[in-house]
Amino acid sequence: MDMDKLVSLCKRRGFLFQSSEIYGGLNGFWDYGPLGVELKRNIKEAWWQDMISGHNELLISNGAPCEHQMVGIDCSIIMHPQVWKCSGHYDLFHDFMVDCKESKKRYRHDQVRGRWALAKEQRVFIATQSGGDEGLQETEQKALKFFNLRAKSLEEISWDGPLVSLITITDFDKVLGPDAKAIGTLTPPREFNLMFKTIVGAMGGEESSAFLRPETAQGIFVNFKNVVDSTRVKIPFGIAQIGKSFRNEITPRNFTFRSREFEQMEIEFFCHPSQSPEWYKYWRDRRYKWYTDLGLSSSRLQLRDHDKDELSHYSCGTADIEYAFPFLPPGEFGELEGIAHRGDFDLKSHMEGKLVRSGDELVVELGEDGKPKHRGSGKDLRYFNDQTRERFIPHVIEPSAGADRGTLAFLCEAYFEEEIEGETRVVLRLNPRIAPVKAAIFPLVNKDGMPEKAKAIYGDLKKEFAVYFDDGGAIGRRYRRQDEIGTPICITVDGQTNQDDTVTWRDRDTLQQKRIPIQGLKEELRNLLKS
Ligand code: GAP
Repeated sequence: MDMDKLVSLCKRRGFLFQSSEIYGGLNGFWDYGPLGVELKRNIKEAWWQDMISGHNELLISNGAPCEHQMVGIDCSIIMHPQVWKCSGHYDLFHDFMVDCKESKKRYRHDQVRGRWALAKEQRVFIATQSGGDEGLQETEQKALKFFNLRAKSLEEISWDGPLVSLITITDFDKVLGPDAKAIGTLTPPREFNLMFKTIVGAMGGEESSAFLRPETAQGIFVNFKNVVDSTRVKIPFGIAQIGKSFRNEITPRNFTFRSREFEQMEIEFFCHPSQSPEWYKYWRDRRYKWYTDLGLSSSRLQLRDHDKDELSHYSCGTADIEYAFPFLPPGEFGELEGIAHRGDFDLKSHMEGKLVRSGDELVVELGEDGKPKHRGSGKDLRYFNDQTRERFIPHVIEPSAGADRGTLAFLCEAYFEEEIEGETRVVLRLNPRIAPVKAAIFPLVNKDGMPEKAKAIYGDLKKEFAVYFDDGGAIGRRYRRQDEIGTPICITVDGQTNQDDTVTWRDRDTLQQKRIPIQGLKEELRNLLKS
């Protein structure tokens, strides 16, 4: 699939616009247009329905069904700065960046790759930001320029090894930066905290500074006790939140994939430590199934367990659900969601203080005086089981999904071009549950009472479904316009409607048409949305 075509469709049909476009845009920020907002809202609603309000699945543990509840929360974006000290984000949430002294560009250290080229008795690491074939071609072109060779002299360059990450390189004086003409212009990697800083109140000053949340998860942890005390939830249970998160990404790119403002759909699932491995497995598999149920093909989707050295500072087990986005080199996958076994890290650190690793253990960091260095809230966040009389810090399983990455993956998966009767049909094969428009209603021609009848059907269906009325242009063109935005059904009022109160029902994917009575439309649409 050609990504440029999807990006152009998204703009042309009102799915996605660059933020502040009339002022030249702002890198890493996006606006959802009228269709995009419906698509993303449907994805978020499907998630909430399947995981929270309608979640009614049992884990069978030791042969017995284990009930669990799911509740929601909606927390503020700006929270007490101490939250981020205790969560580890203040100290550990950073990427490494390198600057180019020549081009003045900034790169994420782990996203620059390159390969060693030898020519004219010089060995140079030719860097690029692209991977795969594109990366190979780019490094060839850059090497030709650097060594001042013509294209036909390419064989004068010998390559020492494949494309590798800049992380593996130590001799920066031999690196030709991705946008540089001379070697040795990249600075050594430096840490860069990804949290956006802001000022609360009118006084200014360091003590008034706060951060925009880089994840929605912490709002759930700091409200754990509030939820337990104010509801009748019993462990195991989950708290869910959908909301904006902000990260000052060094190199936002690949359309909405890496943005600076994005939406997360997170669950923190609290359980007894002895049951946490089972729940981890449950959520890992359940979340993968959710994507395939909604239409992502398993050939482009993978569930990948993290290696030990890849785990976040808090995690003792993580799996990623990844999708083979078309903008990635063949064989590479991009993360859609992480499912992490966070142990008791978060509740413990909000109780006691910042935790650090000591060998295999997480321990509270102590200051020179032997007291905890960064104090947590000091509140007792343990859970009390009034039946077993046990008091304990629950373990947490966290399925953390990105709503924007999900939306992008569903769009990529749905995009098809096909030749029909000498014409190219562009179609978005979106699952009906997430399609922005469920059905379009047309009068075949604008006479003989057809527009009035079609309008009446439209008005009636609109009370329950997202429907669209279109009476402009040839019927074939109207079908194509709906195919392109993923509308699963087109309903047409024609000459026969006046005689027997039936309409045609045209399926976007099979292109089959059937006649159905007007009174049966709602039921048909309800069935479609259940599928
Ligand atoms: N609470 C855990 C957490 O935030 P994460 O892997 O950093 O984990 C979870 O983020 C999800 O949020 C990712 O899988 C991704 O879908 C989404 N996400 C993270 N950074 C993003 C960005 N810069 N742009 C768009 N989505 C992002």
